[in-house]
Amino acid sequence: MSKLNNLQDVYLNELRDLYNMETQLTKALPRIAKSVSHPELKTAIENHLRETEHHVERLEQVFELAGQKVRGKKCTAMEGILEEGSTLMSMDINDNALDAAIIGNAQKVEHYEIASYGTVRSWARQLGFDDQAELLEETLSEEKAANEKLTQLATELINEEASQGESAFEMSHDGFEGSSRSRSRR
Ligand SMILES: [Fe+2]
Repeated sequence: MSKLNNLQDVYLNELRDLYNMETQLTKALPRIAKSVSHPELKTAIENHLRETEHHVERLEQVFELAGQKVRGKKCTAMEGILEEGSTLMSMDINDNALDAAIIGNAQKVEHYEIASYGTVRSWARQLGFDDQAELLEETLSEEKAANEKLTQLATELINEEASQGESAFEMSHDGFEGSSRSRSRR
């Protein structure tokens, strides 16, 4: 892309970033769904994969409305978050603990997407691209709902199950036993 001169140019640049972000997700989500154990979490991830495929199509519509070719631009931030998820999956980790950790990683993905869609939606409105803003708003709402679903699964189900079993680390609620130093720090 040549020099970016104004809001319209950074808007297009960000749309390309988003397009790449969503396509990275369509490739990563099937593997993530496979790695988790809890059926409700698996279903939620599979549902979000279908939504994500729709997000890709919606972005294609936005490019079309903008009179621009559909093009992505590597989103290194999403690549990094997904890489962290892959690292979790390759660790020696209990199934329930992995489910909890994967939710944490998936929520980083959702928060990043929510920030990005919120920005481009506002830019589209500012630029008077109302139809594009509406499409971006639809996806933003679905990302927020997906994030809330993950919060619900974690707090009502997964975190409790992941709390069972013996820990690999000895941790306490009030610092090192008998250590006045750790106490005075609080
Ligand atoms: Fe999405």
